[in-house]
Amino acid sequence: MKQIISNNPMIEDNIVIAEDTYKKNQKVKSVYNSGIFEKMVGDNKEKGEPPKILKDFFAGDIDLISGLENGKDRLEVGCGHGRLLKNLSEVSNKVVGIDFSEEQVKKALKQTSENINVNVELMNAENMNFKDDYFDEVLCLNCTLGNMPGIELRVLNEMKRVVKRGGRIIVRVFANNEKVRLAQHENYKRLGFTGIKDEGSAVITDEGFYSRRFSKDDLQKLFNDSGMEPDIREDGEGGFIVEAIK
Ligand SMILES: C[S@@+](CC[C@H](N)C(=O)[O-])C[C@H]1O[C@@H](n2cnc3c(N)ncnc32)[C@H](O)[C@@H]1O
Repeated sequence: MKQIISNNPMIEDNIVIAEDTYKKNQKVKSVYNSGIFEKMVGDNKEKGEPPKILKDFFAGDIDLISGLENGKDRLEVGCGHGRLLKNLSEVSNKVVGIDFSEEQVKKALKQTSENINVNVELMNAENMNFKDDYFDEVLCLNCTLGNMPGIELRVLNEMKRVVKRGGRIIVRVFANNEKVRLAQHENYKRLGFTGIKDEGSAVITDEGFYSRRFSKDDLQKLFNDSGMEPDIREDGEGGFIVEAIK
């Protein structure tokens, strides 16, 4: 039976961040701790399924992974309950999944108990407990970067720090268009979230859920601010895949 092998002190112990940003991210964590995520992506069909554009977007993560080169050491940032870790395990030498939600990490550990090349660690993506230049590839899929209000650049900088020189960062996010925005509203309503509204290019809820969409310009700026030149590709109607080499 796998166990939580690192309980990295959370951000509050390590870095000073604006209180508002800190609170927003803690609320996101509490939503993920409530266990709603499996229903959000349709892994648990108790409350129906997501709208097609989102279902296709979620399935796109698996397509992306199936095209990865075999045998690399990979990190998945925000691995959730481990939906993608088994797929990553099949194409990788080693996989580490990190997440800051205790509940998600417990589930991911259970899901991957048979996958000997997978480790799951409780860790904040803003402040990772890995050496510099450690992984061949670092992935942040399923618009996880869109769940990180105000800390996107810090997380990207951390992803850059822990990937090897010449290694690749792969990010997959929701595209900022009306179809995705409406589908987000529909999906969160289906799940019973309250006070669903728009805040810039994010949809937020009274529970503190936050899910941001990105334009090509947003992504270009974010990666440039981190000192990288991104390759940004549209991925179906709902998303972008961004790749950058360190
Ligand atoms: C959209 S889910 C994606 C889960 C998984 N990658 C998948 O596709 O099924 C985002 C995950 O990122 C985690 N997360 C959000 N902010 C984080 C942070 N600052 N550090 C670590 N994990 C974070 C959440 O707890 C959640 O499990």
